[in-house]
Amino acid sequence: MVGRGIRDDTGRKRGCCNAGLALAGRGPYHPVMRLLFLGDVMGRAGRRAVTEALPRLRTEWRLDVVVVNGENASHGMGLTPEHARLLLEAGADCVTLGDHAFDQKDMLQFIESEPRVLRPMNFAKEAPGRGHRVVTDARGRKVLVAPVLGQVFMKRCFDDPFSAVDAVLRAHPLGGAVQAALVEMHCEATSEKMAMGHFCDGRASAVVGTHTHVPTADAQVLPRGTGYLTDAGMCGDYDSVIGMDKAEPMRRFVTGMPRARFTPAAGEATLSGVLVETDDRSGQATAVTPIRQAGRLEQAGP
Ligand SMILES: [Fe+2]
Ligand SMILES: [Fe+2]
Repeated sequence: MVGRGIRDDTGRKRGCCNAGLALAGRGPYHPVMRLLFLGDVMGRAGRRAVTEALPRLRTEWRLDVVVVNGENASHGMGLTPEHARLLLEAGADCVTLGDHAFDQKDMLQFIESEPRVLRPMNFAKEAPGRGHRVVTDARGRKVLVAPVLGQVFMKRCFDDPFSAVDAVLRAHPLGGAVQAALVEMHCEATSEKMAMGHFCDGRASAVVGTHTHVPTADAQVLPRGTGYLTDAGMCGDYDSVIGMDKAEPMRRFVTGMPRARFTPAAGEATLSGVLVETDDRSGQATAVTPIRQAGRLEQAGP
């Protein structure tokens, strides 16, 4: 246990601090919610990692709500309806999207009929689908899931993410309309993500970053009780350039000349994300645990 309710990320269990053991002796109700967030699922390798591991982890880790970013699940570019269903059937309560939300054109229609798939709330005023959702867990507890796009270094300048998040959090206060609230900040700049974390501190249970496909080592509970991680990393093959087979990206960096398309790397994926435990009464985070399961990365988990 490091700092305020943080476990270290060495992957080793920590005896008395193991949440699974701590929960085992309790009665049927405990005021703790366990939220798993998994970063960008990258291609076939990422899909396989999620579909093979998530059903088991849902039970083993006593997960109450699972949110998975699926923006790269289909060939690294967007999400098809078929692959969205796959992630939902594997145990995701919500599948979020980012700047690649509509790379697969079928998503333009599918998202209107599938409320469990969310595009970023500030994607565009004309964008189809929904930008946030309240998930109800098996115990009837309500969790706001709210993905948003940042502006810095993004290809398109999306609408102001701070005013968008502010409005959604005001409409879903912790301890009122919802027991927990998860804000996903999808963007390139670490500074913008950290600013969003502090902007939401005390009003969201967790702010988790996505989009860079590289996990950061700054999991923490912010001073007013918001769990925070700058980037959840990707669920993909890390022997790659951010999930793509490394040959073509390296060629383009070295020579400046493209020769082929990008294709997702096909080796064993690491499931990468974060487990956030929250107190139902306050909605605040009590622990934030980095997750890295299987594949090449150093392992981490509860
Ligand atoms: Fe992205
Ligand atoms: Fe991504």
